[in-house]
Amino acid sequence: MEYNSLFILWQSGLQVIKAKDTQAREAFVAAADLQASTQVLDLGWEGDCLECLQKTGARVTFVGEDIRAVQKAEALRVEGVLSAMPAQVISDAHVVFYKPAQRSAKGQVFEWIDQSFQTLEMGGALYLAGQRNRGIRSYAAYLHAVFGNSRRAGRVGRVEVYSAKKEHGNPCQAPIDNRMTFELRDLPGSPYRVETRAGVFSRDGLDDGTRLLIDCLKVRPADHVLDWGCGWGALGMVAARLSVKGNATLIDSNIRAVSCAEENLKRNQICNAVARVGDARVFDRREKFDLIISNPPFHDGNTAAHPLIEGAFRALRPGGRLMLVVMRPGAYLKHIRRVFGQGEVVAQKDGYVVLKGYIGN
Ligand SMILES: C[S@@+](CC[C@H](N)C(=O)[O-])C[C@H]1O[C@@H](n2cnc3c(N)ncnc32)[C@H](O)[C@@H]1O
Repeated sequence: MEYNSLFILWQSGLQVIKAKDTQAREAFVAAADLQASTQVLDLGWEGDCLECLQKTGARVTFVGEDIRAVQKAEALRVEGVLSAMPAQVISDAHVVFYKPAQRSAKGQVFEWIDQSFQTLEMGGALYLAGQRNRGIRSYAAYLHAVFGNSRRAGRVGRVEVYSAKKEHGNPCQAPIDNRMTFELRDLPGSPYRVETRAGVFSRDGLDDGTRLLIDCLKVRPADHVLDWGCGWGALGMVAARLSVKGNATLIDSNIRAVSCAEENLKRNQICNAVARVGDARVFDRREKFDLIISNPPFHDGNTAAHPLIEGAFRALRPGGRLMLVVMRPGAYLKHIRRVFGQGEVVAQKDGYVVLKGYIGN
């Protein structure tokens, strides 16, 4: 499975694309000389980049790790594929556009430089573009270390474009290993052996907010628990171990996170839990829970928090509880009280606050 040529267009990793980025992106699209016959693989750029690519008439496939982004692409009538391993999905791409996920940028860019070396045919070129103050120079250095050559191919405003050519079969340096392993020994039901990957929330260890929520957890033996936005699975694993006669469902919109969670359940021989990809804002009306727990994505603000609180209210059985850990509790607590009729602060530590809402019997 080989690409003729590969463009990786790296921008800042910001969710919001600024006007000047649009200019750079359009210039890059123009540099790629897209024809109607060009098969373009867009790795998670989304939104207006897709519209910009569509205008060229090229055949575009969008491969993303987040189910919501894939659904957005499909709404634009672009073929969408959910995968953390795009090289395994698309075999005939000519041009690849790539935008790494927020926070995880560095490890994922290195991963992609390694993967693109493997997938390029001999003589094929990789182009990498990014802003000078956003790490492009360190990516260019890694590009050189892997390919054994590189050059600055151009500049668009503050965006620099680097390229490297595949001139030999083996990379000049072994691919980096983006996995990280550790053991947690001080949680209920310990020990837990954990493996995470770049691009997954809190990949270096247990998040302090998640730890506080675990400290407050009261799981009953037969509880059916939902871990909303499970990441690599910390909350869901603990809940499953504690609900000895019940079970846990772990949901995350990101396929990379879910594959880590699945592996961690297996690694710890937790058989009463499943991990699956889904937009947790859309609750399945048929599924009911006794306990819903979450360390919700703060940066998504109310677009995630409100549907979570409202969906949880509908999805909980009588006597069911919702427990969230957040940083700025005001709006969340207000909304829990509005929806559940009551809500309380259960614990606070180091800026984290655990909130609870429950359904009376
Ligand atoms: C703050 S992290 C918490 C991860 C994990 N529960 C932990 O405590 O380490 C939030 C997680 O929610 C996921 N997420 C964000 N929006 C989501 C949605 N609409 N549906 C499902 N998961 C979502 C993100 O991918 C991320 O893994």
